[in-house]
Amino acid sequence: MKGIILAGGKGTRLYPSTISVSKQLLTIYDKPLIYYPLSVLLLAGIKDILVISTPDDTPNYRKLLGDGSRIGIHIEYKVQDKPRGLADAFILGEDFIGNDSVCLVLGDNVFYGQGLSTYLRTAMAQVENGGATVFGYPVANPREFGVVEFDKNNKVISIQEKPAEPKSNYAVLGLYFYDNKVVDMAKKVEPSARGEIEITSINNRYLSEGKLNVILMGRGMAWLDTGSPKRMLKAAEFVQSVQDMQGFYISCIEEIAWRRGFITTEQLKKLGEEMKMTEYGQYIMKLAEDSQ
Ligand code: DAU
Repeated sequence: MKGIILAGGKGTRLYPSTISVSKQLLTIYDKPLIYYPLSVLLLAGIKDILVISTPDDTPNYRKLLGDGSRIGIHIEYKVQDKPRGLADAFILGEDFIGNDSVCLVLGDNVFYGQGLSTYLRTAMAQVENGGATVFGYPVANPREFGVVEFDKNNKVISIQEKPAEPKSNYAVLGLYFYDNKVVDMAKKVEPSARGEIEITSINNRYLSEGKLNVILMGRGMAWLDTGSPKRMLKAAEFVQSVQDMQGFYISCIEEIAWRRGFITTEQLKKLGEEMKMTEYGQYIMKLAEDSQ
């Protein structure tokens, strides 16, 4: 399975902070926002990753993540010249995806929780048999998201993009798993009223073919919204308090790569040493030292 991180867009909801810097490069407490979705792909064991961003920002992602070899993975880059919509990821990613299945994660989505790896494994297994898997998560503000509609037997009957009157409080997360048919489907999506080729149209297409799995995540999972300065701060505070209390870091890409066996302890130690002046670097060095 291939992985795509969509990290473009204009970030207008965070102006002026995002006039000169891509939103997904801003910091959530101690690391760039993109580390959080990247760590989800690593947790899923996905090592072939495409980062899509704007013409101005793509060089900065390349500077941050390189070709991925430092953490034992392979990263490619693709420029999206305009924010045409989330489904554009599969059109831009066509050559990269090839004949594979694909996981798309939005570059501004932060996930954390104990069951995450199990959710990821379930989704991957479902999609390897064909179809698509998305996740529903209860939120207080469903109008701002794609929303799942259920019938009285709790069967999913539609997904609506930012409905004025949401049919449930289950938002669709920015983490999607698809079989290879998604590439052709994306090419056929017509722009919505807001002028975007919506991922929701793709999900509804899978649903109408009886091939959409919707996994509902429980309260043990945290999905942190980064849509406004206040929410960015709240997300940072969450990360800080979990890390301080538990001593485990959230979305430390070097740690996940090491635990997944993508890099050796020796390599991990070196990566930590390069950042030894920060608590982040010291945490990585300690992981390596404790395991030797
Ligand atoms: O976060 C989950 C939600 O993401 C879902 O519930 C919605 O169904 C889905 O449409 C999407 O809604 P958003 O309003 O959050 O999407 P937004 O336009 O903000 O784009 C999400 C991220 O993707 C954002 O960081 C910018 C980036 N992006 C967006 C578009 C439209 C791109 O890189 N390229 C694009 O063309």
